[in-house]
Formats: sequence, C-alpha cells, structure tokens
Amino acid sequence: MCSYSFSVSKVYGYSDGRIRRFKDDFMFGASTAAYQVEGAWDLDGKGESIWDRFLHQNPEIIPDGEGGDEACDSYHNYKRDVEMLRELGLDYYRFSISWPRILPQGFANNINKKGLEYYDNLIDELLKYDIKPMVTMFHFDLPQTLQDLGGWANPNSVQWFEEYAKVIFKQYAHKVPYWITVNQPNFICVDGYGGKENAPGIGSSGIGDYMCIKNVMLAHAKAYRLYEKEYKKQFNADVGISLALSWVDPLNNITENVEAADIYRDFTIAMYVNPIWSKEGDFPRTVKRRVLERSTAQGFPESRFPVLSPEEIQLLKGSADFMGVNHYTTFLVKPSEKQYPVPSFEDDVNVTLTYRPEWKQAQSKWLRSAPYGIYKLCLYLNKEYDYPLMIITEHGWSTKKVLKDRSRVRNMREFFKALLLGIEDGARVKGYTSWSLMDNVEWSAGTSERFGLYDVDFESSKKTRTARLSALVYKRIIEQRIVEP
Ligand code: NOJ
Repeated sequence: MCSYSFSVSKVYGYSDGRIRRFKDDFMFGASTAAYQVEGAWDLDGKGESIWDRFLHQNPEIIPDGEGGDEACDSYHNYKRDVEMLRELGLDYYRFSISWPRILPQGFANNINKKGLEYYDNLIDELLKYDIKPMVTMFHFDLPQTLQDLGGWANPNSVQWFEEYAKVIFKQYAHKVPYWITVNQPNFICVDGYGGKENAPGIGSSGIGDYMCIKNVMLAHAKAYRLYEKEYKKQFNADVGISLALSWVDPLNNITENVEAADIYRDFTIAMYVNPIWSKEGDFPRTVKRRVLERSTAQGFPESRFPVLSPEEIQLLKGSADFMGVNHYTTFLVKPSEKQYPVPSFEDDVNVTLTYRPEWKQAQSKWLRSAPYGIYKLCLYLNKEYDYPLMIITEHGWSTKKVLKDRSRVRNMREFFKALLLGIEDGARVKGYTSWSLMDNVEWSAGTSERFGLYDVDFESSKKTRTARLSALVYKRIIEQRIVEP
C-alpha cells in the first residue's frame, strides 16, 4: 500500500510567490483528431470508420445531433487551421491520420491516393511555416471493415496496424519529427469494448476490454519497433504513445480508501505504463492477481485477463521515446458498495469516483478543475518509473459556446503553475499540447462540449473559426514563458 501523500500545499498555496518560467526549449502545441475535425466522412474514397457507423446508427445519443460528417470541415479548411497555429505562435501541431481515409478497407492492398495527398498537403503547409507535425497514427477511428472482423479484440489487429504503419511511415517519415502510435488505449478498450456509449459499443466488460488492451499495446510496440528498425537512423523522430492519465487520490486517509486509490491507479495508470516503462515489463502484478482472484471466484477456468508471452513482454519494454500524457482531471475514490451481477471491469476495480465540491465543473460532466493533480502525477511517475521523458499531449477544458472563456483561462493558468512545480521537482516534461486548437466533435457528446481555443460556428458553411480569450492568453504565455499570478 502506498499513500502518495506529497506536499500539496505547495501547489494549493503557491506560497513562495515566485514566478516560474518555461525554459526556452520547452515546446507548445495544440491538438486535434481526424474524426473530430475533418468532416468529409465519405469524400474522395475515404472508407467508413467505426465512429461513422456508430453515430449514424445511434444519432439519438448525441445531445445536439451533430456527429462528425462535417465537423470543422478541416478537410477543406486545413490552411485556415495552420493559420490559427501561426496566430498562436505554436511550435507544433498534433493531429491524427484517419486510417480509413488512407486504407478504406483497412488493408494495405488498396491505398487511397487522395487520402495520402490530404495529409501531404497539411504537413507541407505546416512545414512551410516551421510548425512541426506531431502525428497520431490512430485516434479511435478504426476502419469499419476491420471492426467487422472483431476489431481490436482480434489478435490479427496487431498485424493490421503494422501494415498500416508501414504505409504511413513510408509516405511521411521524412517529414515528421514526432509520432504517436495510439491515443488512449483505455478509451479505445474500456469505453469502446467494455461499454456501449462509445464506438464500437461492444459492451463486453471484463473480457473484450482486456483482450483489446493487450492487442492495442502490442500494436503500438510493433509500430515502434518498425520505425526503430527502418527509419530511426535516417530520420530520428521520437515515437511515443498517448495515455489518458488522470490523477486519483483516496477520498480520505481511511485504509480502505487508500487501497482503493492504489488499485484504481493500477487499473488506469500502471496498466498502460508498466508494460513500457517498468523494469520488469508486463501488466501490473496487482491487476493480474485481482482479475485472477475474481475470475476464479466467478467460476472461470482461467483468468479473464490475457497473458503476455516473454517475447511480447520484451517487445513492449522500452518501446517509447516519450510518454504522451493526456491529463484533464483528478478523482477521489472509495470502495464501491455496488453488487455487480456479471463479471466486469467495474467489478474488478470496484471503486466509486467522487470530487471535492469546490472543484469547478466544466461543461463535460466528468471534468473538474483540480490542477494539483498534474503535480502529483509528475511525482508519482518520477518515483515509480524513474523520471520518464514526457510530453503533455493533451490538456484542456470544456465550455458552452462563449468567446470570453474565463473558466478555461483559469484552468489553463492553474495547470501551468502546477506543471512548472512538477518540472522544478524533476519531472522531465518537454512540451505542452492544448486540447484543442478548435471546437470539434466530442465523440458521443457531439458539439455540445466545446474544448477549443478557437470557437467554431458549426452552423456556417465555412465552419468559421474565431479566437477565444484563452487563445490570446495562451499566445501571451508562450511569448513571455511565464504564467502571471
Ligand atoms: C481525450 C481524447 O483523446 C480526445 O479525443 C477528446 O476529445 C478529449 N480527451 C476531451 O475529452
């Protein structure tokens, strides 16, 4: 049991009054993802993705009815997007490649030239203005044809991803200094295969989600090794993976709550960090033990949690040049009192999530402002994984459609102050990426939750973008490299 009771007063009080500074080589960027911004969902030979299918079949789950068919129409507006990046003075742009836009049926025997051309144009436009491309290879939009074969629950998915990786490395490796193989395996798997609210909405909690985690992690490692073998010497890009790492604290220091926080951290942080960054590799022992115990009690002949072979453990170990950290919020946990009728991830984890009432709520239900979380996360990762090199690949805040987004400004400033403290205490953080450059389709929430530094008028045919207050503040922070108190 480990209580991680770091001195938080340091973050809450900022008591020493010192203004901390981002070093000159600290990089600032902004992020988007293909399905969320591109639109043109079936244009120029693009294949159907699982998100196209899911929201077409379940339009009623989107609060305001806007899915990704048009989104921000970045497919046609990418020059305006790059202009915004220039307005902000950013060092890099994190965007994702849509697998079905490049390989409409998922496989490399049919490559869509128009798809390749689109990303070539976008990358060239970035390079023209000295903005570095940071490319996410997979951000949730699996080709539907591959889903029809079982998607990430099928062990062949590891190979499918490697084939796709070959195509895009071949096309873009000479232009791209930062690659992110996969974005947020937990969302892909626990939400997509465990739950029903996100594509592909399988609802196989406690089995399908774990199969998916194993395959997604291996797919990441294969792509990393491919780059390492074929391209590293020549182009020397950094290749990483983006993980959704919220911070979690016990509700209070009662032993059961402290244990619940440890377990929750193991299932949500160590699950993905251990295989790549721990000395022993593999999934956390605590997770394996717990699922085995539960499985045995439920009468399964073996654990519902899949095994990694010694070769797979080796493949994964060390398979990242940086840890992409997507950090938004902090949870407080205590053990759950709920009885689960069927085996599930929730039952395996068995915690209830809460917040402190004073943590301000964003437009998204799950998002509260507790900026000290990034500080604690930094210290935790330093201690457990020996100071890994990190890039904050996402952080952001959702509002309604407003231009004076003071709550986002507040959240951003507080986050930066806590991050600078983490860096002062040794965290090796190389860059910060705001989510998001502009409002976009927040998956099943549609356009009802707005994360943009730029407002997007989804009603207009041009999807007009307008800078918010937060865009101006972010620009100023980047110029001055300090966060004013
Ligand atoms: C994480 C995801 O990567 C991104 O797609 C999403 O929009 C943001 N978080 C906000 O929820």
